[in-house]
Amino acid sequence: MTAELIKGFEIAEKKRKEIKEKVIKLKEQGITPGLAVILVGNDPASRSYVTGKGKASNEAGIHFELIEFPENITEERLLQEINRINQDENIHGLLVQLPLPKHIHEEFVIERISPEKDIDGFHPISIGRMMTGQDTFLPCTPHGIIELIKEKQIDMNGKHVVVIGRSNIVGKPVGQLFLNENATVTYCHSRTTNLKDLTKLADILVVAVGRAKLITADYIKEGAVVIDVGVNRLDTGKLCGDVDFEDALKVASYITPVPKGVGPMTITMLLHNTVRSAQRAKA
Ligand code: GUN
Repeated sequence: MTAELIKGFEIAEKKRKEIKEKVIKLKEQGITPGLAVILVGNDPASRSYVTGKGKASNEAGIHFELIEFPENITEERLLQEINRINQDENIHGLLVQLPLPKHIHEEFVIERISPEKDIDGFHPISIGRMMTGQDTFLPCTPHGIIELIKEKQIDMNGKHVVVIGRSNIVGKPVGQLFLNENATVTYCHSRTTNLKDLTKLADILVVAVGRAKLITADYIKEGAVVIDVGVNRLDTGKLCGDVDFEDALKVASYITPVPKGVGPMTITMLLHNTVRSAQRAKA
């Protein structure tokens, strides 16, 4: 078997065009969707992600504001800025780029963001709504993964999804979203003792651990769908996923490449959430 590629980049492009159309409609009604991003410190990876978010916003016609603070900002000052943006009617979505410096309590910061503007879907209220299946902002990478699966018309109903990784940003919520789609979900993580026994049972295998080429063909059931969320930089400078792509190609039915697989969907869903927030604000 040679797996079919799930070309996230192309699917993201298509969705961004649709988002752009929605922005045009909103602007005709006098509303420009606005996204504010707070970046604390100088982490190059965070800066690069934020730059990508700004560029994609501008291309979609979304107003983008970057608010930067030095590494030593106090928690109080940061919370004060979030209060200000919560009140700003021109801003429909607010995210604080993570991780934050050690002296700042990430949970206090996330909880200060108005759930109405929580386009990351990280606020406990958003998470609670997601868990109970209510309408809410869904976290972007997990939502992007579900959209990729739907785009390929892959059936999730009753399928066994195995998620490797239990982060708050990807692992935990993606399992919940698959559950909401009537899949049976197993979570694996660094303490799982019989990883291969479990991954071999997966109809859909989602890998989000951040370890280059951890998953080789022998972890994958013949015909499984493989979703690789990892982005790792090899010594050669090349990017690679958590899955040994060339090896997995031989056994999977579908696979996401790295780069240009899941990655481009994350920002797309962020734009989607921002536009939805602007539509709601209008209503
Ligand atoms: N850091 C890594 N991914 C994300 C994300 O999706 N949102 C935020 N706010 N920070 C991140």
